[in-house]
Order: sequence, then C-alpha cells, then structure tokens
Amino acid sequence: LCDGPLKGVKAVVTSGPTHEAIDPVRFIANRSSGKQGHAIAAALAALGAEVTLVSGPVTIPDPPGLRVIRVESALQMLGAVRGALPADVVVCAAAVADWSVANRATEKRKKKVGDPPPTIELTPNPDILMTVSKAEAPVRPRLVVGFAAETERLLEHAADKLARKGCDWIVANDVSEATGTFGGDSNTVHIIDGAGTESWPAMGKDEVARNLAERIAKALGKM
Ligand code: C5P
Repeated sequence: LCDGPLKGVKAVVTSGPTHEAIDPVRFIANRSSGKQGHAIAAALAALGAEVTLVSGPVTIPDPPGLRVIRVESALQMLGAVRGALPADVVVCAAAVADWSVANRATEKRKKKVGDPPPTIELTPNPDILMTVSKAEAPVRPRLVVGFAAETERLLEHAADKLARKGCDWIVANDVSEATGTFGGDSNTVHIIDGAGTESWPAMGKDEVARNLAERIAKALGKM
C-alpha cells in the first residue's frame, strides 16, 4: 500500500462485463473492456486507498497493488461486492448484464434437424449499484459512484439514473459507436451530482481515472 491522501480508505470498484450463461458453452456478454474501471481501481490505489476490484471476464491485466476478485455473472458480482463491504467508497463501473437466462440448460443445447430454434427466456439481474446505494447505515458507503453509458440523451438519462439508483454521483459517458469509447483508450465524461453537472474534456481513460480519484479524495475530505 502506498502512502497518500486515501491511506486508510477502503474502496470497492466493479469493472468489466458480466457473462450470463445460456448453457455450459454459451453465454450472453457485452462490449465492456474493463479499461475504465480497472484504471479507476489503479488510480484509487495510487492515492493510497485499500482497493478491492471486482472484475467480470476481461482480457486486460490486473492492476498491481490491489485485491482482485474475478467473477462471471451479475449474481456472482453482487456476492463479491457484498463480501467486500463495508467500504468508504464504491465505484460501479462494470457493465452488468440487465438480464440472466431463466431457462439456462445444464447440458449443451443440441440442434436437431427440423426442430425450431430454442427460445432464451430472460430474468432481471439484481442492480448492484442500487443495492449498495440503498443499503442501510453502516453498510451504506459514504460515497457511491455509478456510471451511465448512453448512446443518446446522455445527461437526461444520467440525471434520471442518479435519482432512481440513489447513488451520489453518476459518471456519464457517450458510448455511441462513433465515439470509440467501448474498447478504446479515451473517454469524454460528465460528472452529475446533487449540485449539478461538470463536463470534462476528452481525455485518456487513465486521466479520467486519476481526476475521478482526486475528486473522490476531495469529497471524502482527504485532499
Ligand atoms: O441502469 P444502467 O445499467 O444503465 O446503470 C448503469 C450503472 O448501474 C453502472 O454504474 C453499472 O455498473 C450499474 N449497474 C449495476 N448492476 C446492474 C446494472 C447496472 O451495478 N445490474
């Protein structure tokens, strides 16, 4: 652990996609790379925080100097986050699947000539950000930060998310295809909190992470 303004502060960061199994060999996934979430975990650790990174399946390396818990599904991610609480700050940067497969098969689904294609039934996943935000004291972290990845009406959806989920800040980023945010190295974000909206210029995901970690340190009265 490094000495720094966040020394003694416990942080939990979720990152990456989740995989929701259809059968033992198939799953539903999304395009999250984990780059932004991992960078935030690393930036918090660089300021001295004790960080637990709960990561879905990603291909990027683990940031050094922090605890990494690897999970696949949203349910597993929720379990790992619960297990890592209490914490002073939780940042939910993972792209958690909204649904899991209700009729998950225990054996590989086989195609038979003449059979119609199978139907995948979906069931809602728990909302990790909302669960953490609405937890009772003393489990409720002092600061809960969520993300809003939107392709249109970004700020409107983000403000709505802040209210609905009960978190303290929403980091809104435009993930429409032309921006190259998903999988790319740069990001343009807006921070929405109870006081208003702060728009940051386009910058690298590492720089977004460093600025966010500093903003977190200030909000906790550590800088
Ligand atoms: O509702 P939506 O998925 O757009 O909200 C995004 C925010 O909520 C992100 O911070 C994401 O990590 C979090 N989330 C979550 N659990 C879910 C769905 C979203 O923690 N099941």
